[in-house]
Amino acid sequence: MSDPMVLTYEERGGGPALVLIHGFPLNSSMWIEQLKGLAKVRTVIAVNLRGHGYTQIDSTDGFSMDLFADDVAATIEDIGLDNVDLCGLSMGGYVAMAFWRRHADKVRSLIFADTKPEADSDEGKAGREKTAAAVREQGIQPLIDGVLPKMFGPNPSEGVVEACRTMFEATPPEVAAADLLAMRDRPDSALPAIDVPCLWVHGEGDQLMPVDAAKAHAASMRDCTFVAVPDAGHMSPMENPGVVNPAITEFLRKVAPKK
Ligand code: MLT
Repeated sequence: MSDPMVLTYEERGGGPALVLIHGFPLNSSMWIEQLKGLAKVRTVIAVNLRGHGYTQIDSTDGFSMDLFADDVAATIEDIGLDNVDLCGLSMGGYVAMAFWRRHADKVRSLIFADTKPEADSDEGKAGREKTAAAVREQGIQPLIDGVLPKMFGPNPSEGVVEACRTMFEATPPEVAAADLLAMRDRPDSALPAIDVPCLWVHGEGDQLMPVDAAKAHAASMRDCTFVAVPDAGHMSPMENPGVVNPAITEFLRKVAPKK
């Protein structure tokens, strides 16, 4: 396995830290509205996973959700934080679940956005391999054609779509292909075992991960508040920060920093 690395990140605000983990194939700039809007309640730290945003790498060897989680832990330690509130969208949610499995002592609370706990089905795994091969051959365009249009609710703003397209285009194809195979290999996550406060925000119009399944997962957990986000699809924090930011703010105000 490759060694964990310290990630690049954007930071705003003050007080206890909230770490945000982006989805696929995106980077920290997907959290611009949360960097602005949550800075009053937390030091908001939006990381760039390895190979994404400003986090450059020489090789994609060893990509896995576990390694990504260890990178986040190395970054938190490098900043000098003992524990954090952790939020991940979609693939970032898979990383947050791996982080819980591997570094639970560093977690004060968890926020899941438009994600799911199940491993890929056999059909899903085969699809990942096909898409990874297409991306290696043709670059990021197969993702722009096949995935980007499914990321939003029925009436996305042009600005949000363009911002996502820019993030897709900024992701090196070899990184996107390695992400796909890392997602293929992720295990099931046992959400009922999580014993810190949780919030789950999910776009009502999420075309990639249906809202009803997400609601059922949240209901299976010990202490999880579920918020269905109207006028939003898979990118709910970008599409409707007017609902997502107050939901996160209200949740975090109730989470006491650990001693
Ligand atoms: C994401 O948005 O991170 C991806 O849709 C996750 C996935 O492909 O499973």
